[in-house]
Amino acid sequence: MCGIIGYIGSENAVPIIVDGLKKLEYRGYDSAGLAVYSGGGFEVVKRKGRLQALESEIEQNPIKGFAGIGHTRWATHGEPSNENSHPHLGHQNKIAVVHNGIIENYKQLREKLEAGGIKFTSETDSEVIAQLTEYYYKGDIMETVIKVVNRLEGSYALGIMCIDEPDALIAIKKDNPLIIGVSDHGQFIASDVPAVLKHTNQVHYPNDKEIAVLRKGSVQFFNLDNEPIQKTPETITWSFDSAEKGGYPHFMLKEIMEQPKVLQDTFQSAANTGDNKPIIDSLDFTRFNKLVITACGSAYNAGVVAKNVFERLCGITVEVELASEFRYKDAVVDDKTLVILVSQSGETADTIAAMREAKSKGAATLSVVNVIGSTIAKESDFCVYTAAGPEIAVATTKAFSAQLVLLYILAIRFAVQLKKLSPEAERELLAQIKALPEKANDILKQVDLIQQYASTCVGCKSIFFIGRNIDYAIALEGSLKLKEISYIHSEAYAGGELKHGTISLIEENTLVVAISNCKRLYDKIMSNVEQVISRGAKVLLIGNCPAAGANETDKKLSVIELPETNELFSPSLSVVALQLFAYFVAANKGLDIDKPRNLAKSVTVE
Ligand code: AGP
Repeated sequence: MCGIIGYIGSENAVPIIVDGLKKLEYRGYDSAGLAVYSGGGFEVVKRKGRLQALESEIEQNPIKGFAGIGHTRWATHGEPSNENSHPHLGHQNKIAVVHNGIIENYKQLREKLEAGGIKFTSETDSEVIAQLTEYYYKGDIMETVIKVVNRLEGSYALGIMCIDEPDALIAIKKDNPLIIGVSDHGQFIASDVPAVLKHTNQVHYPNDKEIAVLRKGSVQFFNLDNEPIQKTPETITWSFDSAEKGGYPHFMLKEIMEQPKVLQDTFQSAANTGDNKPIIDSLDFTRFNKLVITACGSAYNAGVVAKNVFERLCGITVEVELASEFRYKDAVVDDKTLVILVSQSGETADTIAAMREAKSKGAATLSVVNVIGSTIAKESDFCVYTAAGPEIAVATTKAFSAQLVLLYILAIRFAVQLKKLSPEAERELLAQIKALPEKANDILKQVDLIQQYASTCVGCKSIFFIGRNIDYAIALEGSLKLKEISYIHSEAYAGGELKHGTISLIEENTLVVAISNCKRLYDKIMSNVEQVISRGAKVLLIGNCPAAGANETDKKLSVIELPETNELFSPSLSVVALQLFAYFVAANKGLDIDKPRNLAKSVTVE
């Protein structure tokens, strides 16, 4: 996900663009750039790193112009660098483009243009748009843009400038957000409302493939037949702050709600088109006789879920280790060990150290990372990326869910290579994963039920999470989510362990969250539920096995029913309900959910 912005009007575009990029940084922040038309040509400044790097450059070498475009990047193709930053220019510097989205046929288009002698300057898919536009441009920018978008496959929100038509700024979208702000001192394009709200609350929301042509005093819309379209601006009533979160009160809730799309995007990247699939297909798992997964926090919990999946599908033993332990234990790994490192940030110090320890002993390293070009991504032997986009809330949600999908798919590939899975079985399992986004959406529709139940838990001093097998694995994550944002003590227990000591903690009104998706263990977990209820506990049962015994009058047992799915993939559904539960308990306490006390988004120190 990236952020684009553009302006054309009576004021200097540079400060307007920079300020807009600040409001869009949450959409991506590994590099940024801008281009302004300054009479003779384009002035372009692009910098790797946070927006501050771009600002410093502009402060030292000021530029000015009345029309310009800007971009803040979340790398998907080509690691963060000055060259890969946007705007991208055509080979004759006549066309400048900023792009949010992914051009799926960029490789074919690039090969065609390079065969025609055009030299590319970046590794990105986006540069293809600038080069193709310049390749087609014969003097009519509208005709050119129409021709270009008819060739593009994938998703885009584009800002386009042409040196020969400096009084026009063009924008068009497909499957990515784009708004057009209108005011009496200039016209704006942006990825979303926060970037322009300071200047105007009059905003157009163009439909896919409607072309916006912005001039100093006007905005016009055209279809791909170059026919004018009449559109009326809407008035934004949001406050700026709420607009930045897309109308949600916290980034965490926004990111929970984004999970169906993240699940879909991550699946597409690993099982269909996308850069992860060739990497996964290139892996030869059969050369390994040992598999270790090491990570921290939620990423570790994803590893515990994956252990269940790998062991069930591949028939091998998988060790899951806390990276902070693994790095100091003189790990028993060698060149026949595959060490999988899971990390949202790719910068967690303990996980980096664990990776280096594994490599020093000859183990092969495969990382599952969300931030392109991060240390773990770069230093591991192989890397697959979660397509979660920037995750702003400290408590991970969508990145965790994306990690699970990639780990499921790796386990399936490994099992196929070990001849534990037939092609039919592989297809069936992939189809079950592909169906997860819609099922996750169904759970999100229960948000009111979960919020209502969470409101009864605010006074809890301690909350137990119990489950068996893979339900115990995801109980670990449910417990961590609750602890880190609500500050309520919580533990996750294997259901069968209660009688070995912890059940002594159960007293009147203790809250126990029981997770039940394993049908073969339903009776066992329900026995645990009855044991704790008989000792005074209240139980929230989350799963696809509605408690047969639950009834409306029994206030001790509440049920959040989940859609059916393969139990191996049920953590992807349980976790959505668990995240919402933790979120609403913390929200009821009025806590700083996006930035919990004592925590950092990336623990880059020991
Ligand atoms: C997740 O909610 C936590 N904030 C934390 O446990 C996190 O998962 C852990 O620090 C690992 O971070 P990483 O995935 O960036 O390596």
